[in-house]
Amino acid sequence: MKIFLDTANLKEIEEAVSWGVIDGITTNPTLASKETGNFWEIANKILKLVNGPVSLEVTALDVNGMVEEGKKLAALGDNVVVKIPMTIEGLKAVRRLKEMGIRTNVTLVFNSNQALLAAKAGADYVSPFIGRLDDVGEHGMDVIRDIKRIFQNYSIKTEILAASIRHPIHVKEAATIGADVATMPFSVLKMLVHHPKTEEGLAKFLEDWKKVKI
Ligand code: E4P
Repeated sequence: MKIFLDTANLKEIEEAVSWGVIDGITTNPTLASKETGNFWEIANKILKLVNGPVSLEVTALDVNGMVEEGKKLAALGDNVVVKIPMTIEGLKAVRRLKEMGIRTNVTLVFNSNQALLAAKAGADYVSPFIGRLDDVGEHGMDVIRDIKRIFQNYSIKTEILAASIRHPIHVKEAATIGADVATMPFSVLKMLVHHPKTEEGLAKFLEDWKKVKI
């Protein structure tokens, strides 16, 4: 499973990329609003820092506006993926952008029928929001499972990008089901590294090493 970082924060991206585990980045308007710099400058820096797809989201609601914004975003670099909301206008935009050779990630997906439509329109990625489904008492992971099954049934190539990931169990379950990508905040990525037994074991090894004659 590919690991994307869900952030527009340059420090977090730089640090996580240095670990050698980051395959791409997803951003959204809320994440962009947390940063103080100019969006276009930040986007340009992210695109240079990351050797992989970077999702940048449109804010227009009509197909023409989405396509215009999508073209402007895609012009920033070869690794841009244009993030489009799951609406009827969004589906039309996905199709139009595909015809121009521009990759898309359909966001705000909350069920498998939406994912199927996004795939049929030509999306490269679909982003089901697991955490937000859990928030309203639904099992977000069930949607990942259903989409996986449907895409396998019809050999659909669109990648399943598990989004709105809140904790390590989401990551483990998404990987077990076979999601193509999981995008997560830096806080969750850091949680994946640690295990108390690793830290305890390392401390003991270092203590015992002091007794070795060298
Ligand atoms: C996905 O691409 C979104 O940016 C993101 O995962 C949303 O997560 P949230 O529900 O934590 O805001």
